[in-house]
Amino acid sequence: MKYKETIVLKNKKECLLRNGEGSDAKEVYDNFNLTHGQTDYLLSYPDEDSFTIEQEQQFLIEKADSSNEIEICAILDGRIVGTAGIEAVGKKDKVKHRAEFGISIEKDCWGLGIGRALTLACIACARRAGYAQLELDVVSENGRAAALYESAGFVEYGRNPRGFRSRSTGWQETVLMRMELD
Ligand SMILES: CC(C)(COP(=O)(O)OP(=O)(O)OC[C@H]1O[C@@H](n2cnc3c(N)ncnc32)[C@H](O)[C@@H]1OP(=O)(O)O)[C@@H](O)C(=O)NCCC(=O)NCCS
Repeated sequence: MKYKETIVLKNKKECLLRNGEGSDAKEVYDNFNLTHGQTDYLLSYPDEDSFTIEQEQQFLIEKADSSNEIEICAILDGRIVGTAGIEAVGKKDKVKHRAEFGISIEKDCWGLGIGRALTLACIACARRAGYAQLELDVVSENGRAAALYESAGFVEYGRNPRGFRSRSTGWQETVLMRMELD
């Protein structure tokens, strides 16, 4: 999918939100590894990144060409500082109405409004793609993310007490959230 929007952040700077392209591969790869090392609330650790830069490039090309999936980059001062995306849960008839949302932003850029803007952009793309439901999992201690999702319209539908097992802190409860789009 394609997306393009310029927003003004809380610090008055302009930030471009646009779908990733193949040529963004190195920057997206570096941003993924940076953000995944800066928080213990994401699904994977940087050393578990199974992509090479070439695979990242292929991934971004496929998303840009896709009719129902997207990876959106947030570009601040000419640099990719975060990404968010939607991915289909599956292609089978019984689940093709569901998509999953994910987001990560580098720590130096938290609190500027990028997270909210990327979340709203992904919700708009999920609607445009025709999904009936957008879903996510969030670690229950990750209050700032959960508050953002709730205010964007996601609703909790359950908890998994052993959703994640952190290398440093052990079990992490995950909150399952969903938003109906139709
Ligand atoms: C969670 C995350 C995406 C939020 O992004 P962000 O750019 O900091 O979010 P925003 O600046 O748009 O703020 C969103 C909301 O968070 C809250 N918030 C912002 N700064 C905050 C702070 N310092 N303390 C507490 N809450 C804060 C506010 O309620 C804000 O709502 P508002 O738009 O009404 O002001 C970002 O912190 C991140 O990438 N974290 C690491 C990865 C992660 O946890 N991903 C989610 C996995 S489910």
